Amino acid sequence: MVCLCFFNRFESLISFQQVWWWFYVCIFTQIDFYIFIFLHRQCIASGLRDSGSNKLLYTLELYEPAWAYARKKYSHMPIRFILGGTVPREEYLTDDEIPDNEKTDHYNLYYQRDLKLAEQSEPWLKPLCMLHKFDAVLIDGNEYTGWAEYNVVKSVCKPKYLALHDVGTLKTHKIEAEIRHQTDIWREIKCGADAAKWCIFERIAPYQ
Ligand SMILES: C[S@@+](CC[C@H](N)C(=O)[O-])C[C@H]1O[C@@H](n2cnc3c(N)ncnc32)[C@H](O)[C@@H]1O
Repeated sequence: MVCLCFFNRFESLISFQQVWWWFYVCIFTQIDFYIFIFLHRQCIASGLRDSGSNKLLYTLELYEPAWAYARKKYSHMPIRFILGGTVPREEYLTDDEIPDNEKTDHYNLYYQRDLKLAEQSEPWLKPLCMLHKFDAVLIDGNEYTGWAEYNVVKSVCKPKYLALHDVGTLKTHKIEAEIRHQTDIWREIKCGADAAKWCIFERIAPYQ
């Protein structure tokens, strides 16, 4: 899932509080953000709504029932719910790129399903980021697209903040390895854990 959100035109102080949404939690406290992508919907949208006007969260959801549920449940929030994928099917990890120890029940349930869904959907991440400047991005979607999404995020979206959920999993481990290696480019703001580990990083070097 991808969330894109706009704050206002000026740097603003957003206080994200711990909020459960479905089975996920995220904590954002006293972070100065300008624009945003990819975060837990409830958490981010609450922060946006409570901190003033002119702020907006975009989410990209591939799976129609999840999209329809969120759209109905959070219709009162400053969120735009886009039914669509992030990256094209060709950018999903190939079967060969998935280590054997990752071929778990999750893989058996979702890998083929998501490839099929990706074939039937439009990849929205790149066009959206070409159209808008987002303050931050949360990557918390498919196990098999995290690295491809990160490549679009750093080359096209260029957010000031990048948040990762499920840190330490196939979804994020290559991203985290790169970011932690680039200490002159990214700075860790905060990490924590709900059902899984999450981290927020700030871009401290300008994008090329
Ligand atoms: C781990 S859950 C994240 C839930 C999210 N943090 C939230 O608060 O709504 C992953 C979600 O990403 C969706 N998804 C999987 N692959 C996707 C893709 N390529 N593009 C967009 N959404 C995707 C799944 O359908 C699922 O709802």
